[in-house]
Amino acid sequence: MKTILLASLALSSALAVVPSVQADEKAMEAAGHQLFAHHCAACHSLDTSENAFGPSLFGVVGRPAASVPRFAYSKAMQASGITWTEDNLRKWITDNEALVPGTRMRHVAISDPAEQDYLISFLRSLK
Ligand code: HEC
Repeated sequence: MKTILLASLALSSALAVVPSVQADEKAMEAAGHQLFAHHCAACHSLDTSENAFGPSLFGVVGRPAASVPRFAYSKAMQASGITWTEDNLRKWITDNEALVPGTRMRHVAISDPAEQDYLISFLRSLK
């Protein structure tokens, strides 16, 4: 209980850094980095080439799905034919299993549009 409270305090203070509408790109990235640490980093490395439980997300924006060398993607991901546009990334983090049924990635459901903006802004910075 205590841990959950602390974690949510840490997250809300990270998000509080971001002024509501005209958050500048750096602040968006920083908030996205926090969200990434909480929701994604357990499985995704930020290293250019290192694959963890999930493929590296370095340079993911604009990249075709299932294109990181030496990562064992699911058949579903290989057959998806999608490119990681910002639009598709938004769909993916809203409900990844709806976008690519049969994916090996555990279900994530980040439906808050502001949180999605932060995460995508952070992913865009990985290049
Ligand atoms: C429990 C581990 C896990 C978590 C947590 C996780 N992922 Fe994944 N992710 C994976 C796996 C495994 C794959 C490969 C899926 C497949 O091949 O079907 C993947 C694939 C992806 C892809 C496609 C990459 C490519 O090269 O085609 C993206 C984008 C992605 N994840 C983003 C995220 C984001 C953003 C988060 C946090 C909101 C996240 N993931 C959280 C395990 C995870």
